[in-house]
Amino acid sequence: MFLGIDIGTSGTKTIAIDGAGTKLAEAMQEYPCQHLRPLWSEQDPEDWWQATVATVRKVMNEAGLKPAEIKAIGLSGQMHGAVFLDRHGKVIRPAILWNDQRTTAECNEIEDRAGGRSNLLKMVASPALTGFTAPKILWLRKNEPANWERVHRVLLPKDEIRRRLTGEYATDVSDASGTLLFDVKNRTWSKTLMDRLQLDVDLMPACFESAESTGKLSKEVAELLGLTTDCIVAGGAGDCPAGAVGNGIVKSGVASTLIGTSSVFLVHSDTYNLDQEGRLHTFCHAVSGKWFIMGVNLSGGGCMQWFRNQLCQAEVSQLEHAEQMYEKLSAEAAEIDVGCEGLMFLPYLSGERHPHNDADARGCFIGLTLAHTRAHMVRAIMEGVGYNMRESMALVEAMNIPIKQVLPSGGGSRSELWRKIQQNMFNKPFARVRCDQGPAFGAALLAAVAAGSYKSVEEACEATIAIDAEDLSCKSTSSYYAKGFPIFQHLYRSLKHDFKRLSALATESRELEPAQS
Ligand code: XUL
Repeated sequence: MFLGIDIGTSGTKTIAIDGAGTKLAEAMQEYPCQHLRPLWSEQDPEDWWQATVATVRKVMNEAGLKPAEIKAIGLSGQMHGAVFLDRHGKVIRPAILWNDQRTTAECNEIEDRAGGRSNLLKMVASPALTGFTAPKILWLRKNEPANWERVHRVLLPKDEIRRRLTGEYATDVSDASGTLLFDVKNRTWSKTLMDRLQLDVDLMPACFESAESTGKLSKEVAELLGLTTDCIVAGGAGDCPAGAVGNGIVKSGVASTLIGTSSVFLVHSDTYNLDQEGRLHTFCHAVSGKWFIMGVNLSGGGCMQWFRNQLCQAEVSQLEHAEQMYEKLSAEAAEIDVGCEGLMFLPYLSGERHPHNDADARGCFIGLTLAHTRAHMVRAIMEGVGYNMRESMALVEAMNIPIKQVLPSGGGSRSELWRKIQQNMFNKPFARVRCDQGPAFGAALLAAVAAGSYKSVEEACEATIAIDAEDLSCKSTSSYYAKGFPIFQHLYRSLKHDFKRLSALATESRELEPAQS
């Protein structure tokens, strides 16, 4: 038996599976996210640990598992975060997360020090992005010098949990790829870039392939969790690659979409392949010696969450679970015609990562009339998130990477309407994974490979994942979207200068004395 633990942004999910990949139990514990200033996003790593302990114990209990039955643990987690540790392994300040956008100045500094954007792309396969780990390190060095003095190591979120489980400082190649300090092509830390940034390579942990063992549970932790010191902890993966493993996206031709807090279009690649303008991520895959390419929108599914939280409060309070509101909204939106009678939504509520890499981009409804209802707005959100993923797919196809099948996943894709929208925008064969368990399941599969139950990640996926084709295609819908897509793309181009001006104005007004505002 194996455990997968996913250190997510809204909570930690732990799942127990048997050797055939059957789920035995799962548990989730949520925690808050602090936004002390606009576009800041932080969490307390102690919350992740408490959630890990609680969910592992719950799962062990519910499945009635004996300590020695768990052979290995796989970790997955939110990517790109930074946990700063002193030389005694003490967390120095709250972790800065993937969706934190405070580091525009540091990103410019990194591109300068690297000798320009194309040099940076050659070194670490990515332009400098505000959410990545490296600019956060530079931000700390500049803005919190007393904290910086104490920093001995920097870890990604799931790797802080590994440290607590095993005492080891380690990461895996897929998560390391999202730090902007990793030579993705050669699967090792980029000493060249770290030298230019005057960062010591020892700041970062040892790096493993995702299905390799990185250590075993310490005695104290094994007792605390009801496990044994023989239990190994696999390298694991960032949540996107772990989710891809959980959906079987481990061979050429298959892609997935994921609508969670963010929205993601992801495809497996057998070779190292880069969009020359850096409009997509190329990261090491959790499959040894392979890569994946993905486009990410920072607030994809989060747009629907925002809509529910801000505009449906009264109804949500009448429901047993706030989640049920999504079903209600989706049912309302299904009554609306394709294209929402000319209403479009740009899903940039947290700025934009792909393809525009623009922290100043903002969400917009465009085309509102007196005739539009809440249901139109919901469908427009779904279509906007879909168009955004469609843009990533277009860039992937321009790189000559084959896409023969797409598997929609994540909470948003539980809505049949949202799946139908995607299918008719993408015009590809769609299929659904029978049990969409998310990144925790992928992490558990990586644990099974690390423990030797399967020879490879591909073999583990082949043996445990079942998919069913789903045809929601409709000729007229898809031809509407083919015409709507260039309009969606043009809207960002029309607005991007105004986004910058608005953002500058908002910064100016925040700096006004309260009495003047
Ligand atoms: C991936 C990304 C997010 C986070 C949080 O690049 O930023 O998907 O991993 O889930």
